[in-house]
Amino acid sequence: MKKNIAKMLSNQVNMELFSAYLYLEFNNWLMDQGLTGFAHWYRVQAMEERDHAMLIYDYLHHNNETVDLAAIEQPTTDAKGVMDILKAGLEHEELITNSINDIYEAALKEKDYRTKEFLDWFVKEQGEEEANAHDLIDRVNLLGEDRKGLYIMNGELAARVYAPPSLTIT
Ligand code: FEO
Repeated sequence: MKKNIAKMLSNQVNMELFSAYLYLEFNNWLMDQGLTGFAHWYRVQAMEERDHAMLIYDYLHHNNETVDLAAIEQPTTDAKGVMDILKAGLEHEELITNSINDIYEAALKEKDYRTKEFLDWFVKEQGEEEANAHDLIDRVNLLGEDRKGLYIMNGELAARVYAPPSLTIT
């Protein structure tokens, strides 16, 4: 593997772990507001982000590369309401999509087709994550000032079940 690709993937491990940290911060904020279902949704999301980090970590080791475990940035939130959290979540996922796309582009340039194929799963996953983030925003927008509706949605989000990633490193 070319050093620039290994470095970008190593950095992506850090970004995915930061994503998990950020969503745990969202969990904190939402728990404080009593929105336990929304909080649970992000707690599950944090578990998925850890999985993403570990997939890339394992992929690097599988290719005889090591992983630079750099410091993970401290997440912060200055949300005034649940919509601020949801929008910050979408914005973050867009940032992650751009980062995956950059590695994808570099892999193609280096003719690293193995990494390109590995990243195909992440490209699709980012599509789903952005769609989920948009869906949450649309649903809360539709509710407007309907507190009862928000309470019902909160209950629905509490039912989210963690599922391990469909991708395995072989
Ligand atoms: Fe692992 Fe939400 O991107």
